[in-house]
Amino acid sequence: MTGSPPQSGTGRPFYLTTPIYYINARPHLGHAYTTIVADAMCRYRRLAGDDVHFLTGTDEHGDKIAQAAHQAGESPRALADRNSAAFREQWKLLDIRYDDFIRTTEARHAGVVQAILRRLWDGGEIYFGQYGGQYCFGCERFYTDREGVDGKCPDHQTPLVYLEEENYFFRMSKYQDWLRRELEENPTRVRPERYRNELLGFLREPLQDLSISRPKTRLEWGIPLPFDDRFVTYVWFDALLNYVSALGGPGEPRFERYWPTVQHLIGKDILKPHGIYWPCMLKAAGIPLFQHLNVHGYWTLGGGKISKSVGNVVEALALAETYGRDAFRYFVLREMPFGQDANFSADALLERLNADLANDLGNLVSRVTTLHRTLSRDAAVPAAPVADDREMLRRAIAATRAHVDAALAEFAFHRALTEIWSFIGALNGYVDREQPWVLERDPRKGERFLQVLDTLTLGLAFLGIILEPFVPDAARRIREAIGYGEEPRLGDATLDGLSDRTYRVTRLGGLFPRIDLGGRRRPDGRPATASRPEPAVAVRPRSPARDASPDAPTTPEPRDAPAKPRVTIDEFRRLDLRVALVLDAEPVPKSKKLLKLTVRLGEETRTIVAGIAEHYAPAALRGRTVVIVANLEPATLMGVPSEGMVLAGSAGPVLSLLTPDRDLAPGAVVR
Ligand code: MSP
Repeated sequence: MTGSPPQSGTGRPFYLTTPIYYINARPHLGHAYTTIVADAMCRYRRLAGDDVHFLTGTDEHGDKIAQAAHQAGESPRALADRNSAAFREQWKLLDIRYDDFIRTTEARHAGVVQAILRRLWDGGEIYFGQYGGQYCFGCERFYTDREGVDGKCPDHQTPLVYLEEENYFFRMSKYQDWLRRELEENPTRVRPERYRNELLGFLREPLQDLSISRPKTRLEWGIPLPFDDRFVTYVWFDALLNYVSALGGPGEPRFERYWPTVQHLIGKDILKPHGIYWPCMLKAAGIPLFQHLNVHGYWTLGGGKISKSVGNVVEALALAETYGRDAFRYFVLREMPFGQDANFSADALLERLNADLANDLGNLVSRVTTLHRTLSRDAAVPAAPVADDREMLRRAIAATRAHVDAALAEFAFHRALTEIWSFIGALNGYVDREQPWVLERDPRKGERFLQVLDTLTLGLAFLGIILEPFVPDAARRIREAIGYGEEPRLGDATLDGLSDRTYRVTRLGGLFPRIDLGGRRRPDGRPATASRPEPAVAVRPRSPARDASPDAPTTPEPRDAPAKPRVTIDEFRRLDLRVALVLDAEPVPKSKKLLKLTVRLGEETRTIVAGIAEHYAPAALRGRTVVIVANLEPATLMGVPSEGMVLAGSAGPVLSLLTPDRDLAPGAVVR
């Protein structure tokens, strides 16, 4: 996606692909994550009126599959049919709306692969040669001596086997300089930036030619080379071309429409084939490069790297059925900052479900739809006298939309959701302040009651649209509850667009029922923890100085605050400013201004008390990255120990937390 926000009803083509998944394993958490991200992005672009083409599928050839079929005592074809169907079934359960599902065993794919191989062969891009080297059957590739670790594959930890064979090679080495320049000149071609840097790192070493065939004497399960049928095509060369073959190949109308907009989405494990082999293949075949390669991090379970052989990744995905696909989607989109690794835990999922979905969103919907009971059941909501509240809502809607657009332009789903939840927090705050249930009973406040109800109903209508890509079932139920019968469109999600219609509201309670954490047992039979563990930090001695002014951290400075005396660079350097990730936020009992934040810096977790409760709802802070002063004398504020200070800017009544505008690991130094 380019940096510019989608406009409504543009009909602009947008083509997004997921990796095609190996069918030697059943779908699990990792596959589901990528596919959910792609689905949410495509739903968002459809909502914006774009002409979306969303491709996923299965990768069915190669050693890995042949071996798995052999072990299962069945033919590769039978294994492929069964497991490819399992992926489609899983995507149906998660309501993944792909436009095409490609299998590399389909004739439409093989035809395009062979046509492109023929073109490369005719163009002298492929030669016949001999190669000997250390081979990993799991990765289906040769390793150089430097890459192997004690003679083992660094990924699979299995011994590398020396293989010598005659093969066909793609002249990839000749594209090394071109690719380096291409990545240097286009900083967002591969994103986030760390993955572009990783590729530039690979390109500092000499690039080898790529063996693109396997002799049939060793492997039959593949697409025969069109110019030598004693060989089949190397599985990566075959698989990558799915992105082209699914559109029919160059010259086909579908290809010509969507290809120029193609964006790939992958996990970091397959960066090298997508970031090195694929651009070189495209260049050699005379096909324009993808617009962006979007790379996400890895889910870990309990801190350890997970792999397909571990059953618990499948179990993790089963939580989508136990707690609902919306809760699962929300959790994975919200919890993983795009590009970074994240830890999956059922407890963390339940906490998000209870806090963000049941408490913040579910309660809001239930409160607002319940308020409508005072109006006659079938009556439409009467027009309310225009109030300032509408202006507030107009601004909040416009700001939320702009932030969501900007975040999604970089696949930053966690940020987009944080923004939407701060809108939800603001509406909940409005309900608390206005107390419409009091207005409702006071006949003199009838007009005010209608104004408040009007604002809240329009707020729900906005949520019914903007939430569609992220929690589609809940969004649909919200729209149904307020009688919004049309297809949701982002273009209608403005105050004027939403005001321009009639709402008939029926009560919607229990949109996300709370899960009782106390009674829940984990899959391993141990009782669940009821809350996040306490931060593992020792409380340092209290500081009388800061006790005296509990609001010191963020008391707004007047806009024209006098300049302070100069400091030397050494004085400034005494401050230890760090990036910190907010793990949790909760009100400090009996304080209107203070929030207790649990933040992570590197390996360390600490508690910080900040005077921001009037500006931020706790839910809007969880998962956010902030900047803190890490070496401030500890203090105790309203009985809660605080070990640092959160930085914020302020102008008049507006207070804004400082957040790095790129992903930085918690603990990163700010200077
Ligand atoms: N068949 C190749 C891809 C060919 S694309 C032309 C392949 N398949 S795979 O089944 O192993 O899927 C890998 C992808 O699954 C990753 O790139 C990622 O999208 C997803 N994930 C698998 N495990 C994962 C995690 N633990 N965490 C996040 N996503 C991961 O490689």
